[in-house]
Amino acid sequence: MINVLIVGSGGREHAFTWKASQSDLVDKIFVAPGNAGTALEPKAENIEIRSSDIEGLVSFSKKENIGLVIVGPEDPLANGITDAFTEAGIDCFGPESLGAQLEGSKAFAKSFMKKHNIPTASYESFTDADQAKNYIQENDLPLVIKADGLAAGKGVLIAEDHETANKTIDQFIGEEKFGDASKKIIIEDFLVGQELSYIVMVDGTEYLPLATSQDHKTIGEGDVGLNTGGMGAYSPVPFVNDELDTVIREKVIEPTIRGLSEDGIMFRGFLYAGLMIDSNYNPKVLEYNCRFGDPETQPIMLRLKSDLIDMIQTCFNGGISNYDIDWDQKSAMGVVISSHGYPESYETGKEIIGLDTLSDRTDVKVFHSGTCSENDIILSNGGRVLCVTALGDDLNQSNENAYRAVDQIDWDGKYFRKDIGFRVMK
Ligand code: AMP
Ligand code: GLY
Repeated sequence: MINVLIVGSGGREHAFTWKASQSDLVDKIFVAPGNAGTALEPKAENIEIRSSDIEGLVSFSKKENIGLVIVGPEDPLANGITDAFTEAGIDCFGPESLGAQLEGSKAFAKSFMKKHNIPTASYESFTDADQAKNYIQENDLPLVIKADGLAAGKGVLIAEDHETANKTIDQFIGEEKFGDASKKIIIEDFLVGQELSYIVMVDGTEYLPLATSQDHKTIGEGDVGLNTGGMGAYSPVPFVNDELDTVIREKVIEPTIRGLSEDGIMFRGFLYAGLMIDSNYNPKVLEYNCRFGDPETQPIMLRLKSDLIDMIQTCFNGGISNYDIDWDQKSAMGVVISSHGYPESYETGKEIIGLDTLSDRTDVKVFHSGTCSENDIILSNGGRVLCVTALGDDLNQSNENAYRAVDQIDWDGKYFRKDIGFRVMK
């Protein structure tokens, strides 16, 4: 039995904690810093160390005899958390900082894809606002403007007109809206199609595909408005048949893993390809993430029957491609409930009611994202607050179950999209 440290505080980390708590391989789980939901899971305890405090996490792990670290968010990976744990001799699941550049720098990812012949939208990168504006002027709109560095899913703007494009370029480069992360931008062609989150586990050389999922990135129904971290996701995605799956593996996943190895980059962790699938079933990479998706983790963990900890340990021992993974054949849907105003400014500290009415359900799990607890009262504590996740015999059933559960929860300023799954539901 091992002690596990889970780094992060969102819905993804709650889903990992919930899943790890069911593993016979696990003695104790520490979550740094966690949320009100992680603290309620069996075997789990929140610790007050921020995910950015890499030194603090390493010294805590030595003291508490941690046998495995699972890193949820991208920032600590980009900042070298795995490098630090590896040096300390502790298994940490997630790529070292070199591999995390696939997510940490869009310019790095784009040139990696160009070099290894991985399909993606054409692009140029800029650090000079005037040059970027000229490029916009000379090319057809819409174009997609992206901050090079990490911006919590908010550093992407689809420019439909010149005024918005120029304003965004000024905000990103001129005003450094995302600090150093937006001093450099890339501008790429707008792609049309269906989005797909394709996530695999990588052990350094081999990979294991996980269940497919689709996220809904924008705040508004019908996929309009500002980009968020993700407002809801479901799994599996019905349009992914065996043929498309093979194309994705052969054209995207395998060249990516081969390319990393050719470039001398050791990658052990979750590798997430955010894809656009066009009407001819050709995938193009929108982005790489070097970690699991949030909210994709929540429906995928609800469907995963295998032991997550055993799977991760296999990634350290090698041979993950032969892992006999077991999925619930049901469909799962997660609906994010956020604070009114997110992804811009919003209020927190609101009492959440109704959670107790769902606590005994086996087909519904409410994963916490931004919550905290004060005197046993659960309060909103972030932009994305909860992800209400439900199983069902098919997508429509999981949708009904999830939304019925959403209706049982309330707080002042509760917001959610009512159309999660709309692109594929009958
Ligand atoms: P990214 O962080 O690069 O995945 O971008 C966030 C979201 O913006 C994606 O999930 C898409 O919805 C949208 N997006 C990004 N790049 C493009 C593109 N080239 N064409 C169309 N939509 C895009
Ligand atoms: N849900 C998208 C992401 O985690 O990046």
